Amino acid sequence: MPAIANLPAFALNGNILHAEGVALTDIAERFGTPTWVYSRSAIESAWSEFAQATQGRRALVCFAIKANSNLAILDLLARHGAGFDIVSGGELARVLAAGGDPSKIVFSGVGKTRDEMRQALAAGVRCFNVESESELVQLDAVAGSLGLQAPISLRVNPDVDAGTHPYISTGLRDNKFGIAHDRALAAYRQARQLPNLRIEGIDCHIGSQITEIAPFLAALDRVLDLTDQLAAEGIVIRHLDLGGGLGITYSDETPPARGAMLAAIFARIDAWVSQRGLTPAEAPEVLFEFGRAMVGNAGLLLTRVEVLKRNGDRRFAVVDAAMNDLMRPAMYEAWHDIVPVAPSTTATAATEAYDIVGPVCESGDWLGRDRQLALAEGDLLAILSAGAYGMSMSSNYNTRPRGAEVMVDGSTVHLVREREQVADLFAGEHRLPPR
Ligand code: LLP
Repeated sequence: MPAIANLPAFALNGNILHAEGVALTDIAERFGTPTWVYSRSAIESAWSEFAQATQGRRALVCFAIKANSNLAILDLLARHGAGFDIVSGGELARVLAAGGDPSKIVFSGVGKTRDEMRQALAAGVRCFNVESESELVQLDAVAGSLGLQAPISLRVNPDVDAGTHPYISTGLRDNKFGIAHDRALAAYRQARQLPNLRIEGIDCHIGSQITEIAPFLAALDRVLDLTDQLAAEGIVIRHLDLGGGLGITYSDETPPARGAMLAAIFARIDAWVSQRGLTPAEAPEVLFEFGRAMVGNAGLLLTRVEVLKRNGDRRFAVVDAAMNDLMRPAMYEAWHDIVPVAPSTTATAATEAYDIVGPVCESGDWLGRDRQLALAEGDLLAILSAGAYGMSMSSNYNTRPRGAEVMVDGSTVHLVREREQVADLFAGEHRLPPR
């Protein structure tokens, strides 16, 4: 079966695009459109590449659940032993509801509320990734009020250019994330004085959709350098959290393989450990927080062409998915491959350059531009590489119910989130009382 765009889980079979053993035409018939379709085997194969690369090492691969927080995905990864990177009390609740192990949760985020701190302390998370001096003080107070000690690492901003889209590049000096590298030492000294904090590690995350190894190694070097400086002051770093950010192929990007990226990192760390003569027990554990590389290419968005129209020189295919479902094109001008689900049925139409757009009342509501496709109204399209930052960033703009989510496992389809109903969308709203 020819795989589509090198995605082994999605392939043409009998000229119909399948997710594993299930025809997408069947999924559309059973669940309607738009529907998010995930492949269990694709998620498990991404996980196993990470697991193999960390085998025999003191390492914890976390899933950054902001990429896709559906409980079925969290459950699947929890069963394989994944940790979780969360950024809110809501994400904490999801991990716990999915059976995730709280002692494998790291809590990132630049603006944790005191309530969220309390919830995470009560749950017993592995570590707080603290992003400012104020947060140190606040967390110390909250932990003290509960009679607990909060395990912390400081998110250090290594001032490394990840070479990625400005909206998803987080490691540069002038953005809101982390603590500047040149202030980190002082912040650790401050943390050491706070009685209800326990210093565990260093954390950094330099951006997302990074397609080269070099920026990761540059950030790692700065983290190791800081670890040395801290050691000289008697502050022991037990783990290095190197964040996420590994990119995937959307069109022609060639990111390093998961195993190759981790191997390069471990080689650098191993050299550092042996230069210092540390025993394996003294060497820091290594944590990661991958989102996109875990699930991005394990999902697609299934949509149907409602209307074909022509305005001026442009041809538009208006589909039933929109920017509220998949926000990435509108927000980052992101590219997602868009392919017909049943190319044979569209063979009679002429191939034209179409803008694939949604029905939302915004010119920014597009999913793909200038796509060479042979289309007829009613055709199904698959918007690929939509497993990460798709559903999790969706909204109800234009009072559009979010689509269903299904997970395919071989020839079985599991409904893992029901399609929203319009009534759900205003169920919590109230009309004014009579005056
Ligand atoms: N850790 C931290 C602290 C993060 O902020 C992020 C992502 C990750 C881990 C996971 O990064 P990943 O491995 O997925 O690259 N909405 C954007 C991406 C925003 C990423 C935000 N932080 C997009 O659709 O491209």
